Order: sequence, then C-alpha cells, then structure tokens
Amino acid sequence: MSIFSVHEIPWWKKTTVYHIYPRSYKDSSGNGIGDIPGIISKLDYLKDFGIETIWLSPIFSSPQADHGYDVSGYRSIAPEYGSIRDCELLIREIHTREMYIVFDLVLNHTSDQHPWFQESQSSRDNPKRDWYIWHDGQKPMGKKPPNNWKSMLGGSGWHYRDLTDQWYWAQFLPFQPDLNYRNPDVKKEMFDTIRFWLDKGIDGFRLDIINTIFEDEQFRNNPFTWKFFPSDADDSSFFQKKIHTINHPDNFIFVKELRSVLDEYDAPERFLVGEISASVEVLKKYCGDAINKTRTNGLHLTFQFQSLNVPLMAKPIHELICLYEQHLSEPYIPTWVFSNHDQMRRISKLGNDLNKAKLNATLQLTARGVPFIYYGEEVGMSNHRLPLKTAEDPIGQRFSRLPKFLVNLLTRKGSISLNRDDCRTPMQWDPSLNAGFCSEELEPWLPLSLGHHELNVSSEEDNPDSLLNCYKALLRLRKKMPALHSGSISFLNQSLSTQSLLSYQRIHDEQVAQIWLNFSKKPLEIGRIEVSSKLLFSTIVDADSLKDSKLHLEPYQGVVLGLSA
Ligand code: GLC
Repeated sequence: MSIFSVHEIPWWKKTTVYHIYPRSYKDSSGNGIGDIPGIISKLDYLKDFGIETIWLSPIFSSPQADHGYDVSGYRSIAPEYGSIRDCELLIREIHTREMYIVFDLVLNHTSDQHPWFQESQSSRDNPKRDWYIWHDGQKPMGKKPPNNWKSMLGGSGWHYRDLTDQWYWAQFLPFQPDLNYRNPDVKKEMFDTIRFWLDKGIDGFRLDIINTIFEDEQFRNNPFTWKFFPSDADDSSFFQKKIHTINHPDNFIFVKELRSVLDEYDAPERFLVGEISASVEVLKKYCGDAINKTRTNGLHLTFQFQSLNVPLMAKPIHELICLYEQHLSEPYIPTWVFSNHDQMRRISKLGNDLNKAKLNATLQLTARGVPFIYYGEEVGMSNHRLPLKTAEDPIGQRFSRLPKFLVNLLTRKGSISLNRDDCRTPMQWDPSLNAGFCSEELEPWLPLSLGHHELNVSSEEDNPDSLLNCYKALLRLRKKMPALHSGSISFLNQSLSTQSLLSYQRIHDEQVAQIWLNFSKKPLEIGRIEVSSKLLFSTIVDADSLKDSKLHLEPYQGVVLGLSA
C-alpha cells in the first residue's frame, strides 16, 4: 500500500524528461544549425514518443564559444536559434500538447563578452566591477594568481587583466568569468531573470554547475590531496581538495533562496534540477530539508551522475538503487541519467549493443526516480569519435594541444571522450544523406554519427522490434501504471540479485509491477512466478516468456510483469 494518493505526488516527480541539444536537433532555417522552429516542428513526434517534459540546453544570446553555456544576454535568444517570438511560440505549443518545458540556466558565470563583464573589466571603479570576482595577485609584484585555486578543468582558475592589474576568477573556462553572488545586485538581477522566464510560462530550470556559486570569502588556499582525477563522489581533483571553491556552505542557503523564487508561482508547480557532481549525501543537502511528505525546501531534483558509468550488471545496479533508497527516499527522489551533452553516450559504453540498450532503458524507466533521456538515445545514436584538432567543443580544443600518448592514456578505457562534439552529432530523423536534420545540400555543423542510415526515427518507427518502439512501449506503460512512476521500490529476493539477475517490484495501492532484468549472455529460467502474473512489457517482442508459472528470460532480456497486490 502506498501512503500517497497519486494526485498528492507532484507532477515533476512523475514526469519523464527529454534533453534536447538545440544546435543538433532540427535545422529549419537552412544553415546547418538546429533551431527553435525546428524543435517546434518535432513536437508532435515528442508527444507521440511519450515524454512529458522537454529540457533545452541554453538558447540565450551567446558568442557560442561553449555553445550557449557562455551567456551574453539572459533575456534574449541567440539569433541562430530564433527570436523571442519563436521562443514564446515554443512554450505555447508545448503547453498546448500538455507537456512541460525546462530551460537551462547558467547562473555561475557569463561569457566574457557579456556587457556586464565588458564593463567590469574596464576599470576598478566601474559600477559593474564588483559583479565579478576580482582580486590582486600575490605580493610583491602581483603577477602571480591570488591563491592556489584550480578551475574545474585543472590549471589556475585565475586570469590576469593588464588594464586594471587584477585577476578574475573563472571556475570553468577562462572566457566564462564567475559572477559574484555576494553582491546583492547580482543576486537580484538573476532572480528577476528567473521570474522573467517563469512569467513567460517556463516550468522549471536545469541549473548549470550550481555547486560552484560561492567561493571562500577570505580566498584561503585549497588544501593538498594526492587525488588527481575528479570523480562522482568526491570533487577533489588536480591535487586539490576543493573545499573553498566547490560545495561552499553558502551554496546550500542559496538554493533555498532560489527555491523560494519558484515557490512564488502557483500551479503548475515549477521545478529546479541541479547539475552537481557529488556524493549522494551532498546531493541530498542541496535538496534541502523535508517540509512535508512529498516536498523539500531546496532543489527539487539533482542529477546523480553515479549512473553514468555504472556497469550494466546486476550487483552494481542493485547497490546503486540501495544507495538511492538509503539517502533519497520520499520526499526526496533520485534521477536516472545515462547520457548527456558532456558525456560519452551510454550505448557506446555498451558496445553499441541494441539489446543491452533496451535492457538499460527498461531499468531507466522502471526504477524509482525521474528519467532523463538524451536526444537520440531512443534510436540508439552512438558517440562518434571526431578529430580533436577540428573540435568545435572548447574542451576538445584544449585537449588537441596534448601530446598523442597522453590523449591515448586519458581515453584508455574508452569510457571517456575528450571531445564533447562526439555526443552532440545531429539528430537522426531518417535514412537520407543528412539524416533529415538539414537539407542534403548543406553541411551540418557537426558530422553525422555512424549508423544513421539504420538508426533513425523513420526507419525505426515501422519496426516493432526497434529500440524506439521499445522506449515507446515503456513510456506508455509508465504513464498508465502509477506503480511505475509513483510506487515504492523493493527487491524481490536479495539473493536473486547476483551479477546476472536483478528483480524488483514497484507497488502503488493495489497495483504491483515486477521488473526482471537478465544482465547475462545466458538464458535464465525463474520458477515459482505468481500465477496471476501478466506480461506487460518485454524487450523482446512477442516473447513467450511466461509459461507454467515460470519466467524464461533470453540473454539481456528485461520484462515487466503485472499482478494484483
Ligand atoms: C556544465 C555544462 C557544460 C558546460 C559547463 C560550463 O557542466 O553541462 O556543457 O560546458 O557547465 O557552463
């Protein structure tokens, strides 16, 4: 039995999110770059596909040095993506289809081309000087950075400007100076920007690197550690414990203030999802304290990047679900994200195996949490290894300067891609030359990924056994069964959770869904299945999986069974 009625559970906990990288989705203007009218032309596809919420990577004015994550105007739209009118139309068209829209908000930094920064760097007494973080260099000459703080990407995060003989702080790339949130004018401006978009009907925001908003006010050095590579659970990296630059205690107060801005708005409730690489304990702190049985007072959701690299095996996935249930049980809720615009696509980590991708999708859409599907994941788009020397991605460009042996060393395991272009290739709509992303005479802004002649929407729509139809069936079932989006989760039998088999059940009121996932390359037979069980979904179409109270699972098969409590 559930302690909630399904109506008590907020919509953003039950939703499924689809992440669009606008530059790569659909070109309507004929310049080889995706745009807002292109996205509007695909809304019927998205509705029919079955997702409920659309998150767009930034479409604001930007010199595009980091493709929109370097904003030069927060209340205007980059002309290559469209106009403010196109944006308003997009919001209306999404709402008409009873879907939701989430924008990507980069609060931590702006572009160095933003008029605020241009003013700020012009003189020490400019009114915008204190909108960014400026500091004298180390004595006696001031020609050394103020302290040892490293940026997220390694190397000093301080950058010198001759004109005013001071250094500015940039947590990410040098052209992305950090805003100074200790200045109340900055905070007010950004909170008003949030209101500006909420007034236009935006249903929520994805908050870019929100764990880097504040730094130590006394500019103390970060302590030394032997750890070099950053990881999901610990942000220490590049031989530095980032205690003064990441997850600063003031961030946790800031997210609650942000939350109260969103709470000024009535139904439908708006939501915040934070991009934070941290342990689940820290992520929970960003969500704030429980205020009632369904809500907290911080961020509504955070990404758990722990899932990005979890092996497709029963034991680690079992452990991950246990970790989430231990720390993020109601009123908290985990998210399930396997791919995004910064990471190697999941299917490429699974050897581009479509059966494994279907199994992974079954996990993503049936475990307790909010699923985030990255555009093209539904048709099996793979990472496309593109040359570093022609990278569009500013991080790829940085790596292009490294000697080859170091690049090979860093990508050794194949699970890391140094060029984010690789996961941002154009969406694959049909088998034509440019996959229907733009017309055939044009050159898309990035080359298409391999396999687009077979792995595309129109080819897969007609094939009942395609990955696309597998996602569709799962999304349909999830919508129909409250147990799958709002139910509790428990393991059916702890001892069954070996390397090969994982099974859990989701229960809501009288409704029970049992999920059985075979992670091995061998078939499995499970006895003593409840007689009342019905096969509601299978990754293998028309499989005869339930016979004589036994469940037969083919290699990498996943099923959902329904039974009455
Ligand atoms: C986030 C974004 C990434 C961007 C960076 C700087 O990690 O996901 O694409 O480059 O922040 O804004």
